[in-house]
Amino acid sequence: MIERVNPPLSKDRNTEARTIIGIIGGTIAQNADGATPGESPSTPFGDASASMQTIAIGQANVLYLARHGPGHSIAPHDINYRANLWAFHEASVSAIVAMYAVGAIADILAVGDIVIPDQIIDYTWGRNGSFGEILGLNHFDFSEPFSPLVRHQLLLSGEKSSRTVHTTGTYGCTQGPRLETSAEIERLRKDGCDLVGMTAMPEAALARELSIPFGSICLVVNAAAGRGDGPIQKRTIQSAIAQGSPNLLDIVGRTVPGLKNSLG
Ligand code: HPA
Repeated sequence: MIERVNPPLSKDRNTEARTIIGIIGGTIAQNADGATPGESPSTPFGDASASMQTIAIGQANVLYLARHGPGHSIAPHDINYRANLWAFHEASVSAIVAMYAVGAIADILAVGDIVIPDQIIDYTWGRNGSFGEILGLNHFDFSEPFSPLVRHQLLLSGEKSSRTVHTTGTYGCTQGPRLETSAEIERLRKDGCDLVGMTAMPEAALARELSIPFGSICLVVNAAAGRGDGPIQKRTIQSAIAQGSPNLLDIVGRTVPGLKNSLG
């Protein structure tokens, strides 16, 4: 039997002395540089994907979690999103920044570009996307899926980037683990999706259910199916990640102190 508890309101999350920012990495930043090993969190919903690592960035403490687990072993549909988000909730993080590798649907997006999305369309199925058993049924507002506060700090840091940073974009979240067909991508494009990935949902919704301000930053690593020249090659994606990750991590690294200042 799972005990019913109330999550703290976001204003109660942090004290000035100890602001903790959560960062979720996936295909990008599979292992955070400079991280120290921490405990592997166990939650009422099962175990989180991996141990959470503590990193100091400026005056802020960061808790880093690799959503695909050690060695990128957990497929997008098998990730225990509830355990991951609950672990951040138990650690009383003040905000979360989530990083994603994505495919480009919109013509204006090029490989290596950064997108700070402002909307999501969810095409996933069968993923458990609520803490209802513990928190009770809650039809919370999700009109704007990303926190304006976290987005604002990401946008400020992005302004100093040498690479193109797109300040809006609709993230289409697909089930995976396979990539999409060209027809599926065309449908997403007609729906209004600018980029495609597999892991923003239910991550973003679970953070909202816990009242944790949540924002995301995406690195474009390929043209989505049917939008480039021929099949999507794994090595093209890997090389885009290798080339683009330092830029994305630089933006995130500069976002953390800004978040601490605005929250702490
Ligand atoms: N589709 C879905 N997820 C992705 C892609 C893609 O083309 N590229 C990186 N993540």
